[in-house]
Formats: sequence, structure tokens, C-alpha cells
Amino acid sequence: MKVAVLGFGTVGFGVYEMLGKAKGLERGPVLVRPGKNDMPFKVTSIEKIVSDPSVGAVAEVMGGVEPAYSYAAAALSAGKHFVTSNKALVAARGPELDTIAREKGVAFLFSAACGGGVPFLHNLALARESDEIRSMGGILNGTTNYMLDAMQRLHLDYGDVLADAQRLGYAEADPTADVSGLDALRKIMLACAVAYGTLPTDGLLHEGIESVTAADVAHFQSRGYTCRLVAGGGRAEDGVYAYVEPVLLRDGAPECSVLQNYNMARYEGANAGPIVLMGQGAGRWPTASAVLRDLSGILRGEREMFPEGLRRGEVDNSLCRHSYYVRLPAELAGELPAASAELDGDTVRMITEPLPVSQMHFEAKRLRARGASVFFAAVRE
Ligand code: HSE
Repeated sequence: MKVAVLGFGTVGFGVYEMLGKAKGLERGPVLVRPGKNDMPFKVTSIEKIVSDPSVGAVAEVMGGVEPAYSYAAAALSAGKHFVTSNKALVAARGPELDTIAREKGVAFLFSAACGGGVPFLHNLALARESDEIRSMGGILNGTTNYMLDAMQRLHLDYGDVLADAQRLGYAEADPTADVSGLDALRKIMLACAVAYGTLPTDGLLHEGIESVTAADVAHFQSRGYTCRLVAGGGRAEDGVYAYVEPVLLRDGAPECSVLQNYNMARYEGANAGPIVLMGQGAGRWPTASAVLRDLSGILRGEREMFPEGLRRGEVDNSLCRHSYYVRLPAELAGELPAASAELDGDTVRMITEPLPVSQMHFEAKRLRARGASVFFAAVRE
């Protein structure tokens, strides 16, 4: 099967290289921006690809919703299998692309959009057929894991570790999506959609690591905690929840051994119990390997990751409660229900009484709207 590649950045180059050695797959044209077509295999027009009858599949690794969506819709409508690493695209337009793919009888697969090289969505799609998936999530962003790990183990500063993550090809073109938790949120949206057939779009919450400081990290460390950015999704009695937030884990918890750009994805089946998958969650070769895994899957007859009849829906993040570590200006200490608090100059570091996730995220927004610098993280004992 000849594969056209859309994009020739960090992952696109990796996909093109791997296609040169893959069984049953061959290299097709590569779509690049005008002015970047410095080799005969590089083209600048999507029409050249969708109208080429020798192209059997299109692998999109450009990122962003547009023009990726228009290109994807054109490729699927032309009867080409479509594989992508683009979580922004699938989170925004996955249901429409799934519909076109089913109408045309071609594949729409996106393992590389969640977990980098970790086969998370693939396994969720298998598990939902035979088990009831109760919850899922974990460490789903390689950039922030790399940053938090380097800040804690190597005592590096936030700005330096973000620059390193960008240089190593882990971060998105605009790293705001990584550090704000939006990238991990898109991934848990996809996981919920694969597991439950509902793509959550309303009521989602994400808190990232933008406001963490070296002093916060030193404080967690002195108290025997490690901080990780964690996504959570699942079913509670009254509905579905999905959110992303920093979490403080007791040293020795499995997440503390997730270093550098690694991810730890997990799900819990009613019968299987907890399943954990760990591997590199970002970077050229891990992500390209997931794209190739999907392309090889097409050769074996795989066609879809979403269950049939995918719809959009809302989540309720008041269904989960945690105690939170909150660092905020001392004069605002009375604004939250504290179980314990330590004064550190004009700053207070408190552990709250258990609060619904939705309430903690709301309180942080409210305090920041008043100009306060606030960092919070759920505490898992
Ligand atoms: N920026 C993403 C991450 C890339 O750091 O996890 C892989 O999805």
C-alpha cells in the first residue's frame, strides 16, 4: 500500500523514514508548504495526492484543525485510508471523519494521537468490546512529564526545561497546549470517546503546570511527594467525568517512576482490573512508530477506533473529589477550606478538605481573576 504523508516536521520525517523499511507499505508523495518542495517526492498540493490512484492511504502529521480537517475529509472522500497523530483534529472533528470513513468503507485510525508510542487507544478499543471500562487516564503528556521530572531530579528552572522539551521534539508547535494541560485533555477526550462512544465536549476542565515554581517543587520533595500532570476519565454512578490536573503522589507510587518523556496510560476494566501501559509518549520515533502501527493494522483489516454511532456529550467533574495542595497569597488563605496550612512569608501552602474537582478548578479561576498567583495539585496518599 502506497502511503502519502502530510507534513514533514519531526514526526513526518520519522514516518517517511520508517515507511522505507516497513513490510507491505511503500513511500508515496509528501505534502509540504510552498517553498519547501526541494525534492521530487515533495508536493505542495493536496489535490495531487487525493487524485493519485496509486495512493492507498494518507498519514497526516501536520497538526492543527485546519487545513488538516479539509485534507482528511478530501482523502477519505476519495476512498483513501486515513491515519493521523493529530489529537486537536480528532478531538474537534473526529465524529465527522468517522462518518465519512464508514460511508466510504475505509480506515480512520489515530493511535498516535494519544500516548505517542504507547498503544493506549488501540487496547481500549479492544477492551471495550469484551469488558466494561470503568476508568482511564494517567500521564498522557510527554513534555510536561519531562519538565516536572527535570525540575524535581535535576533542579532545573521551568524556562530551561521547556526549551529542552521543545528542542527534543516533544512539545507541540505552540507549547501552550502542553503546559496548560490542553494536550492531555484532548487525549483523555479521545480515550473517553473510544471507550464509551461519547466524545466529551462540555464541562471539561484542565489545569496545567504553568504556575508551578521551583519553590513548589522543592516543597513537594521535602514532604515526600512527586508532582505529575495526570488525566482522569471514567464513569461514576451519575455520569462521565474527564479532566486534567497536577497531582502530588507519595514517593514510591508507580507514576513517580515515569521519567523524562514517558507516559503511563492506564485503564480499569470491570473484569480485567487495572491495566497499565508505559512507554515514550512523545518524540519523532515513538510517535512515528504508532503511525506505522496503524498503517500495518490497515493491511490486517483494521478500519475504526471509535465505536459506531459516536456522538458528542457532556461530562460532570463534580463526581470526583480530592484534597488539594494549594499555594496562594497568605491574605487569601480563608477563601478555601483548609485541613492544614503553613505560612511561608507572604505565601500560604495548604492542604484543603476534600473538594469536588469542578469546585477546585472554579476557585482557582476565581482567585486568579482577582490577580492572585495560585498553584494547585490534587493530593493522592
Ligand atoms: N506534545 C505532545 C506531548 C506530543 O508532549 O505529549 C505527543 O502527543
